[in-house]
Amino acid sequence: MSRRPIVAGNWKMNLLRSDAEAFSAALASEVGSQPPVDVVLFPPAVLIDTVVEGFEGTPFEVGGQDVHPAASGAHTGDISAPQLLDAGCAWTLVGHSERRRDHGEDDHLVGRKASAAAQHGLRPMICVGETAKEREAEATFEVLERQLDAALGEGLLGGADFALAYEPVWAIGTGLTATPELAQEAHAHLRHLLGQRLGASVAAGIRVLYGGSAKPGNVAALFAGPDVDGFLVGGASLDSSSFWAMISACADR
Ligand code: PGA
Repeated sequence: MSRRPIVAGNWKMNLLRSDAEAFSAALASEVGSQPPVDVVLFPPAVLIDTVVEGFEGTPFEVGGQDVHPAASGAHTGDISAPQLLDAGCAWTLVGHSERRRDHGEDDHLVGRKASAAAQHGLRPMICVGETAKEREAEATFEVLERQLDAALGEGLLGGADFALAYEPVWAIGTGLTATPELAQEAHAHLRHLLGQRLGASVAAGIRVLYGGSAKPGNVAALFAGPDVDGFLVGGASLDSSSFWAMISACADR
């Protein structure tokens, strides 16, 4: 099955309104030459409006960097799936390793977030990945299975539209990238697990992105992996021309 690639940018806690305006205008001006790739941007919550407005009239989509499992209520500082949808988002990240590390998010909570997003029609992009220590201990597959099962186990059904991002923690923001072989091996394993849980034909349609120091110079080699369906890009998504170069690199397989 051919899967339409996704190139997604995760701005994390970077950039200001003027940057978001310039970035979205630059990207929107490229729309005529857009390859058959889905483009999603995850700006900080305070810049969602700006990017949604800048992307008006383009097929580019916007997402939140996190979502609360509840639809509303007394949760200071959090944002719900209905609020993200109302702001113009189509996606949300869940389970990013920086949320797990900085906010103590565990597998169970990640599952509740993924499920809440899907129930409201917001597509979760579920991040999984092992630490350096876990890889050294040859526990990578075990960690991926545990994280994936937790994300699916909270009621995220096979019919839900979601994507996975394989993000080895040791590669995020470090300049270290997984080799194409190592990325393909992890992606194939994730698809194998998805097949066991959801059935082979559902698994064949789920996009599995690679994240972790992806940049214009290394995406083509990584994208050659048949189970690598695009990229979740941090640092290299802060500059519109490097982000566009990565979109262009995924034009054809
Ligand atoms: P990086 O971040 O591309 O800066 O390594 C990726 C991510 O955390 O999604």
